[in-house]
Amino acid sequence: MNQIDLEGRVAVVTGGAQGLGFAIAQRLVRSGAKVSLWDMNAELLASARAELGDAASTILVDITDYESVAAATAQVEQELGSLDIMVNSAGVAGRNAPLDEYDLEEWHRVINIDLNGAFYVNRAVLPGMKARNYGRIVNIASIAAKEGNPNASAYAAAKAGVVGMTKAVGKECAQYNIAINAITPATAKTRILDELKPEFIDYMLSRIPRGRFLEVEEAANMVAWLVSAENSFTTASVFDLSGGRATY
Ligand SMILES: NC(=O)c1ccc[n+]([C@@H]2O[C@H](COP(=O)([O-])OP(=O)(O)OC[C@H]3O[C@@H](n4cnc5c(N)ncnc54)[C@H](O)[C@@H]3O)[C@@H](O)[C@H]2O)c1
Repeated sequence: MNQIDLEGRVAVVTGGAQGLGFAIAQRLVRSGAKVSLWDMNAELLASARAELGDAASTILVDITDYESVAAATAQVEQELGSLDIMVNSAGVAGRNAPLDEYDLEEWHRVINIDLNGAFYVNRAVLPGMKARNYGRIVNIASIAAKEGNPNASAYAAAKAGVVGMTKAVGKECAQYNIAINAITPATAKTRILDELKPEFIDYMLSRIPRGRFLEVEEAANMVAWLVSAENSFTTASVFDLSGGRATY
């Protein structure tokens, strides 16, 4: 494992109770950061905390509730110190259906968590980062943002929104020592796949030239560098983790 130096840094990972978020939190802890895990799943948060040890703490947060996000931001700054790093990994896939049959409530649920939640999280942490002239944010988008997967239009739309938001806010903050980037992973085998039809998962695998799923540690490896001080130039960008699927 390459050594990434996050000694003395305070990080938040939303959706950190499992999946990509947990693997990222684990890598950040191993790199020396204090990490606050934010998630809606109290049970999984407790087991994640137990596995990560004393460098990790947890807050029950629903990222679709701005008050809850703002309160958690204030709590981290009070208990752990200046919030340097935000990785927004909380998200849902939404149910599979063609757009002309897509359930209206389900559409709004997906957009609310995956896009509005990302906005809330970025909005809450940026004032402190600007005041201190330091911050690193990674928004987890998806290869679906760039390519679209049939029968998952809400997810593709939300994640494309996250990419657009990242490019805009990254430029707004480019005069500060703040880097805001997005990553676009291909499919990794996590619980997010539980919402999806098996044939849809087969389709996504068939689209990956590497011929296998992304390992969550591979995502964590990329994120660890993106949130380090060494990433001092690149911002408002999108990093593919698609096993060769992305073509632009
Ligand atoms: N796994 C994949 O194939 C894949 C591919 C591309 C992008 N992504 C993205 O990566 C991120 C993480 O996905 P994952 O595979 O680890 O999923 P996961 O289901 O394993 O973890 C997601 C976590 O987010 C939490 N969460 C959901 N809604 C929340 C809310 N409103 N507030 C707080 N927490 C909430 C869940 O409780 C869960 O612990 C998501 O944004 C997902 O869209 C995943």
